[in-house]
Amino acid sequence: MLRLNSPLITKKEKKYVNKVLKSGWISVDGDYNKSFEKKFGKIIKKKYNLLVQSGTASLHLALKSLNIKKNHKILIPNFTCSANINSVLQCNATPVPIEVENETLGMDFQLVKKAINKYKPKAIQIVHVYGFPAKDILEITAYCKKLKIKVIEDASEALGATFKNKPVGSFGDISVFSMRSEKMIGVGEGAIISTNNKSIYEKIKLLSNRNMPFREKHHSYWKKYICLGEGYNYQMPHTLAAIGFGQLENFNFIKQKKIKIGKMYRKIFKNYNFAQKILPNSKPVFWLNAIYFKKLKTSEVRELGEYLIKNGIEVRSGFYPSCLISKNTKKYKGLSKNLFEKILVLPSNIFLKEKDIKFIKNKMDNFLNYS
Ligand SMILES: Cc1ncc(COP(=O)(O)O)c(C=O)c1O
Repeated sequence: MLRLNSPLITKKEKKYVNKVLKSGWISVDGDYNKSFEKKFGKIIKKKYNLLVQSGTASLHLALKSLNIKKNHKILIPNFTCSANINSVLQCNATPVPIEVENETLGMDFQLVKKAINKYKPKAIQIVHVYGFPAKDILEITAYCKKLKIKVIEDASEALGATFKNKPVGSFGDISVFSMRSEKMIGVGEGAIISTNNKSIYEKIKLLSNRNMPFREKHHSYWKKYICLGEGYNYQMPHTLAAIGFGQLENFNFIKQKKIKIGKMYRKIFKNYNFAQKILPNSKPVFWLNAIYFKKLKTSEVRELGEYLIKNGIEVRSGFYPSCLISKNTKKYKGLSKNLFEKILVLPSNIFLKEKDIKFIKNKMDNFLNYS
């Protein structure tokens, strides 16, 4: 099967995991946690970084650190992973899905502006989809800053991409990067959360560690179980941090491979319509390569998807629109619904060869009777 994505596991990751196992310290706050956090912070230019157990957990923590609660409104993209809406629902807050633009599939600034004036949200989650920086990121962050609305930048799918020479993840007040196995760095299940704001970081760290502030060695034994209220067990274990650290050391290789495959796709599939454009000032990492079959019927796209799977080619549809997850929007027929129904995401793993991409193209041409 040609996989959508597969993690890179080299001798390095095995060596680091073995070291952890030998040390007996498989819990949180290990040396590899600290080394990863420090090295990662330098790449994305954020001072405070914390490894946690999933992207969803990091979004939840980000919202909690901003005191988001019932009746607060949070803007989220309509076309994204369900983790965005779920993290808002976990806080009992109200998600407000915003439609995306049709060039990079990021949130549309004009619609964000309108929604801010109408809903007065407390925060916004911006997502860079499939490895492409959201083209309106600067306008959105500047507008939010003016109105003191906090920006959570979800760069889970785009680690390594840059916009105007700045790394994605450096734009938000808080940034999150999922590290589940198919991501740019994949440890199984995991994520990192980053910020330049010390008090936000301290709150995140406390909440991720059960809201128990006296757990470190130097505190008296009798203080260790004191808990200040609702908290979570969200920190990443040392074994996974060791895998992550190996991949971080190999990150340049992973990123260059991804870019090479993305460019190869665009050359080989030149008569197909990609869902996203490469814009000036933007350097995507092509986490996934998505074709948008705008003119086909939904049933035809689905038949094509099934045919590719039967031929050993793993595919995915577009995301299920956030507004269809929240209530009362069943009649919705906008862009994200079309993207959900008419996108086919193709194998994009770093082990693909040119002949594999040509094989995928041939299968697709055959099915569609393209000559
Ligand atoms: C944009 C985005 N945000 C959040 C998540 C959730 O991350 P996790 O699966 O690590 O909880 C994902 C995907 O997994 C994602 O693609």
